[in-house]
Amino acid sequence: MSGVITVVAPVNIAVIKYWGKRDEELIIPLNDSVSATLDTNVMCAKTSVCVSPDFVKDEIWLNGRKESFTSPRLQNCLRGIKSRAAAERSVDDAFLSWKIHVCSENNFPTAAGLASSAAGYACLVSALAKLYKVKSDVSSIARLGSGSACRSVYGGFVHWHAGVKPDGTDSIATQIVDSSHWPQMRALILVVGDHRKKVSSTKGMKISKETSELLQYRITKCVPFRTEAICQAIRDKDFAKFAEITMKDSNQFHAICLDSYPPFAYLTATSMKIIDFVHKYNDICGEPRVAYTFDAGSNACLYLLEDEVPKVLGVIQSLFPSSTPDSFIKGLPARVEPVDAELETALSLHPEEKDSVKYVIHTKVGEGPSEVTDGSALLNDAGWPVNPIIE
Ligand code: DP6
Repeated sequence: MSGVITVVAPVNIAVIKYWGKRDEELIIPLNDSVSATLDTNVMCAKTSVCVSPDFVKDEIWLNGRKESFTSPRLQNCLRGIKSRAAAERSVDDAFLSWKIHVCSENNFPTAAGLASSAAGYACLVSALAKLYKVKSDVSSIARLGSGSACRSVYGGFVHWHAGVKPDGTDSIATQIVDSSHWPQMRALILVVGDHRKKVSSTKGMKISKETSELLQYRITKCVPFRTEAICQAIRDKDFAKFAEITMKDSNQFHAICLDSYPPFAYLTATSMKIIDFVHKYNDICGEPRVAYTFDAGSNACLYLLEDEVPKVLGVIQSLFPSSTPDSFIKGLPARVEPVDAELETALSLHPEEKDSVKYVIHTKVGEGPSEVTDGSALLNDAGWPVNPIIE
């Protein structure tokens, strides 16, 4: 049997959104996108893999439960890594023929609608790359699992280039700057209580591509300019520029969802309340100090600089009261500055119903996937799950 390889991988939250595929099967996007990779110490996926001549079939366990290995996306990732390993002659044919065991989990609730598939597939592909000793860039293979996963292969700020080739070999992610470049950057993820059945991003993109004229406009007229401008803002650490582009791009993405036919919406009344308070807060500051962005769900990700965190957390706490205030803020330790009377009057916002924001995750920009060797592998020495759920 091979040794067990265990890797942790990060979540990423886009500031220029990926929305629409040029190729459904190969998951090639219609437009470039840009994201920040978030600290794995706060949120991560963890995956253990190993191969053995004794295993009778490929098997996978997700969050303790045995799942089917037949999903085309999973198969494509495994096939992609194996053919890369064969091309690089990094392992021998016998090793390539052995069956694999994969065990993976997230340290954050999958149901919270946070970017779990991006972290999950980046983790799987990075673990497979280590197992099969693949040395070259694997972002184009992570992309085969879930488009946004290709950006989680790198730390810091990341640019996913749509590429032009039909086979997607140039649809890869590259790092803009590493996680040490802008150390003050923080993210607050506001997990919004929302039990609606949502249109999956895969399905939503398809409807938008087929029906939205605004999507076509965005791809040709907005994204190229915005991508260049935000990459420059990141290099220059120009927060005001970064924030403006981030918010405008999120708003345009959600406008595309409504421009699709039939339309669908991810933002809820609580999401709109968050948008409203960010704009009011920025107006009071006289410049953008906080930026919101929303993916295919109602949760907000606020980007802001370290110095602003205590004040913004104070506003969030008074605007979105919690029935469990002691565990309302998770992740990195944070000071909360009570809102003073002046700011309260200026914001003129009334507290929402209790628990409309369930909790807040305080995190920062972090590094890409890394191997862990601290004895916390999810597969035991014989290659079986350490904590299986028996049903
Ligand atoms: C709104 O990567 O989840 O989060 O490629 O179909 O798996 P598939 O979609 P996915 O889409 C993410 C969409 C988004 C924007 C983004 O992350 O760029």
